[in-house]
Amino acid sequence: MRYRLLSALVASAAIVTDAAPAASSYDYIVVGSGPGGGPLAANLARAGYSTLLIEAGGDEGDNPTYTDIGNFNEAANDELTRWDFWVKHSDDPVRDLKFKHTTWDTGDGTFYVGLDPPADAKLLGIQYPRAAVLGGCAMHNAGVCSLPADDDWNIIVNKTGDTSWSAENMRKYLKKIEKNEYLPAGDEAHGYDGWLATSAADNSWAKNDSLPGTRMLKKMAELTGQDPNDAVNLVNRDILEAGDNVDETTSFYNMVTHADSKGKRSSPNNYIRATLADPAKYPLTVKLQTLVTRVLFDEATLKAGSTPRAIGVEVMEGASLYRADPKHVDGTKGPVSQILATREVIVAGGAFNSPQILKLSGIGPAAELTKFNISVVKDLPGVGENLGDNYEGSLLALGAAPVQSGLITLLFRTPSAPTKKRNIFTWCGAFSFEGFWPGFPTYHGPTQYTCAMVHMAPKSQTGSVRLVSADPQDKPDINFRFFEKRGDEDLHELVEGANLLRKAWQAAGEPVLPFDELHPCPSSSGAAAAAAAGKEEEEEESCTDAAQAEFFKTQAYSHHATSTCAIGGDDDKMAVLDSKFRVRGVEGLRVVDASAFPVVPGAFPSCPTMMLSAKAAEDILADAKKAE
Ligand SMILES: Cc1cc2nc3c(=O)[nH]c(=O)nc-3n(C[C@H](O)[C@H](O)[C@H](O)COP(=O)(O)OP(=O)(O)OC[C@H]3O[C@@H](n4cnc5c(N)ncnc54)[C@H](O)[C@@H]3O)c2cc1C
Ligand SMILES: *[C@@H]1O[C@H](CO)[C@@H](O)[C@H](O)[C@H]1NC(C)=O
Ligand SMILES: *[C@@H]1O[C@H](CO)[C@@H](O)[C@H](O)[C@H]1NC(C)=O
Ligand SMILES: *[C@@H]1O[C@H](CO)[C@@H](O)[C@H](O)[C@H]1NC(C)=O
Repeated sequence: MRYRLLSALVASAAIVTDAAPAASSYDYIVVGSGPGGGPLAANLARAGYSTLLIEAGGDEGDNPTYTDIGNFNEAANDELTRWDFWVKHSDDPVRDLKFKHTTWDTGDGTFYVGLDPPADAKLLGIQYPRAAVLGGCAMHNAGVCSLPADDDWNIIVNKTGDTSWSAENMRKYLKKIEKNEYLPAGDEAHGYDGWLATSAADNSWAKNDSLPGTRMLKKMAELTGQDPNDAVNLVNRDILEAGDNVDETTSFYNMVTHADSKGKRSSPNNYIRATLADPAKYPLTVKLQTLVTRVLFDEATLKAGSTPRAIGVEVMEGASLYRADPKHVDGTKGPVSQILATREVIVAGGAFNSPQILKLSGIGPAAELTKFNISVVKDLPGVGENLGDNYEGSLLALGAAPVQSGLITLLFRTPSAPTKKRNIFTWCGAFSFEGFWPGFPTYHGPTQYTCAMVHMAPKSQTGSVRLVSADPQDKPDINFRFFEKRGDEDLHELVEGANLLRKAWQAAGEPVLPFDELHPCPSSSGAAAAAAAGKEEEEEESCTDAAQAEFFKTQAYSHHATSTCAIGGDDDKMAVLDSKFRVRGVEGLRVVDASAFPVVPGAFPSCPTMMLSAKAAEDILADAKKAE
């Protein structure tokens, strides 16, 4: 497969400017406008503090590729906003080269994706898309909104003693931000006046017993201990429901997205724009197409050896300055200047960029900083470590006919899960999803059918984000070290999930059966084709649990990176933040984004990060009050 690497340089969208006069100094500077930083900047300004929000990308808030949630695959492929990180899944290059969508630069302006690159092609690695745009990755994601397990919040209480992180208390931030459009008003677990629209699909298809999808749904119910006759109701169950045993519940749900009921994406972009447009003239300034290169510290504090104090940021202005941007032109730089914050700097560049920014500013593992001649402001060994992500893998098959079905969303516990909690989040439908590469996804024709699985509680968080140089335009080295700790258990749980779903597929009936499975288990017809080619035995053996585990080990993908600047306790030397998001060992600096979660927050981090951001606004404003 070949894809175009670059189109001609695309002119960037209009820059948002505020009505307020430009100032050289602000109360707060927020770096990055995704689910972490975007709503936070808006909330600080709404509370009356002059706030500068700096974003490396532009504004695509009027572009239908981004505003229509159904276009999410186009959005994630779009050069206008794409930042390509080329990541590793392990320390073993041989294992990584088995990843079927490994990507290479052919040198002639195209990518090669696959296992058999042309001679002289340069290995790039495994594509990991991110969005550099006002609203961050919430502008190109699929918008799936789900909540962490209660323990994923409660563990922060355990680590820090700060009870405001209890799952019970965190619900209040969902209620605060949510504008629920799928339940009748008055549900105590939900909010109806927030800025984040949530909606759910029409699942009335499940009432039709003659659909292959309905037959599979009922079989899944039977295999997961649910009442098949109740499946038609369960498909409408609220996935954001509150309750004591939610995390132990195996059930169908209605998938919720952060989009309104008309299919328009709802993201921090909307909230930032609404804040800028508000007649109350909140003191928010948004600076787009500006790359923050480092945080500045008060020289006096550094010289005196007292606690270093963050006083602003250094920026480089211009579009496409970062080398992850496919539009970046070698050697391009922009004017560098400094902007001051009288109160605080808040870094929210996401799980890859926040640790990079801290390290470039002298906060991180001392040995790594010294290697690049960065003077150490604070030796914090946890910065860039503890990188976590959900493992994802899919079953993909071709039906003998198109598979008529709506979307099935099922959260279930596989038999060997170590606790009573459910461990797999799956959604099934007539689509294909096999991970990320330039040009994803592959269309396998009208009969394609996928169950995409997300492992909700990966047991290994040994990934890292490390510098390759002191150049802020460089991308860091990112290695997820998938399955490093207790990986065999997680792989086995994925295989159990796949076996269950495959069994349910056999209930699809006429005219869909037989399914021709493409992976993880090449099907009988695949075996037939192989038999014709004289490879019968190999194919038959390819469906052992061990073979499936090997498939997931080499082909798992991910896109929910978190935890690289983790909150932790005073006694934890790998803790980067305290429970109020303050970077340990310095003053005037916090990190508020998905890097703050000590553990992967359930199956999807977008809504949890926006909840965390709402909490951060409250914590920061409380500190501001105290200081006044
Ligand atoms: C393709 C894809 C699909 C996804 N689908 C879902 C989904 O359906 N549901 C879900 O819950 N999650 C999904 N996610 C994950 C989710 O979107 C992210 O976890 C979430 O956006 C993280 O928010 P954040 O604020 O931590 O970082 P980000 O969203 O990455 O925002 C960081 C922002 O900071 C900016 N920035 C970075 N460095 C600098 C710098 N030096 N100077 C200035 N600005 C900078 C970036 O341009 C970016 O806008 C998906 C992610 C991807 C990539
Ligand atoms: C928190 O600590 C208590 C007491 O040690 C323990 O029972 C509980 O399982 C812990 N919870 C989490 C989420 O770590
Ligand atoms: C149920 O689905 C079948 C097959 O697509 C269709 O012919 C039939 O009209 C549907 N019935 C209802 C009530 O929608
Ligand atoms: C660090 O500084 C020293 C002394 O100035 C220089 O010799 C070395 O090349 C520098 N290293 C890097 C990685 O820039």
